[in-house]
Amino acid sequence: ALIYVLNGPNLNMLGSREPGIYGAITLAGIEELCRQTAAALDLEARCHQSNHEGALVDLLHEAHHAGAVGVVLNGGAYTHTSVALLDAVRAISVPVIEVHLSNIHARETFRHHSYPAQAARGVIAGLGPMGYALAIQALASDRQPASP
Ligand code: DQA
Repeated sequence: ALIYVLNGPNLNMLGSREPGIYGAITLAGIEELCRQTAAALDLEARCHQSNHEGALVDLLHEAHHAGAVGVVLNGGAYTHTSVALLDAVRAISVPVIEVHLSNIHARETFRHHSYPAQAARGVIAGLGPMGYALAIQALASDRQPASP
């Protein structure tokens, strides 16, 4: 089964972008972590990054049409501005877990609000790259609840 890992604007700059906030890991490193975490759970992770709001909307639709069982979404700054991302999450019948590397609630107040979070299955913030792995594990266990 497929999961989509979608990263939004400026996340292609990870590694050199504000390392005090985002750490030293690159986007390629995060995507590799996602692929490995998914593979261990018998899932295939398809990873994409875009700096363009509409491209992220298209990718959410693509996840739906591809029959993905879940999406991990780090919308970057569009998280705080994009009604279109919220509507796209509502439009698809695929659970979306929103992830942020940083703890957005401990930062500027304009980062405290998230549009897509209003339709997300859950939100993970502040745990760095581990948040992506935890989100994939949550999507996998939603899918196949552990038997008692
Ligand atoms: C981010 C948090 C956002 O506020 C910011 O605009 C980003 C990255 C994070 O992963 O911590 O680009 O989504």
